[in-house]
Amino acid sequence: MLPHPTLADRYATAEAKPAFVNRLFDHGAKHYDTVVDWGFLRTGASYRLWTLRQHGLRPKDHLLDVACGTGLVALEAAKILETADHITCLDPSAGMLAVARTKLSAHFVQGRAEAMPLADNTFDFLTMGYALRHVTSLEDTFCEFHRVLKPGGKLLILEITKPTGRISAFLFRLYFGRIYPFLTWVFTRSNEARDMMRYYWETMDACVPPATVLAALHLTGLSAVKRKVVLGLFSEYTAVKI
Ligand SMILES: C[S@@+](CC[C@H](N)C(=O)[O-])C[C@H]1O[C@@H](n2cnc3c(N)ncnc32)[C@H](O)[C@@H]1O
Repeated sequence: MLPHPTLADRYATAEAKPAFVNRLFDHGAKHYDTVVDWGFLRTGASYRLWTLRQHGLRPKDHLLDVACGTGLVALEAAKILETADHITCLDPSAGMLAVARTKLSAHFVQGRAEAMPLADNTFDFLTMGYALRHVTSLEDTFCEFHRVLKPGGKLLILEITKPTGRISAFLFRLYFGRIYPFLTWVFTRSNEARDMMRYYWETMDACVPPATVLAALHLTGLSAVKRKVVLGLFSEYTAVKI
């Protein structure tokens, strides 16, 4: 199952998606932190920290942060773990990883969620922040999550989900589809950064509904599969490996 249909204006076939996405984040990497910082009214770090605590990340846990990007989730996790020694950060983009390496002394792995070069039954906690739309298969990704988690290990996937109400959906589209990409260009003067944020919107717009994500999580044999919604916008998918 794809997280969204092929976006023909961006890449011609499903096979071409990973290279397209990789180029996008490699080129946008140097602007990513600034753009998401003001784009979410400087709440990103505190929200990530709050949600990690809410969902039970504990000191001594071995954490895998999939799609770590520039390390925004891992940085907050390190505050709870009181060290980055037990954090593994995985991402396919060399550009995003290069930025993350300047901020955190975790273990970094270049790779994709669908086929992770990591051992079975290794992690107590697995996070994925705002990247589910970029994988090529929900099933492959969730099977990998199941494989690398220890029995009893927890999964937390953070996403932004298009609201369903008419007015909120209109405002969401206006902000993420128009205002955010435009202001990104105004502040960075970078077409690549603007493109990254346009694609951010296009994938949110085309994304499968939450019920499909929950069904795919169930299919992999994960237990206690749930979705919590914060402010009608932020989806927190959680599950446990029995
Ligand atoms: C929007 S950024 C999210 C970064 C970070 N997790 C955060 O909370 O800000 C999406 C990240 O997903 C990564 N990504 C794209 N395709 C991926 C894949 N197939 N597997 C894992 N990560 C992927 C990108 O390279 C990028 O760093």
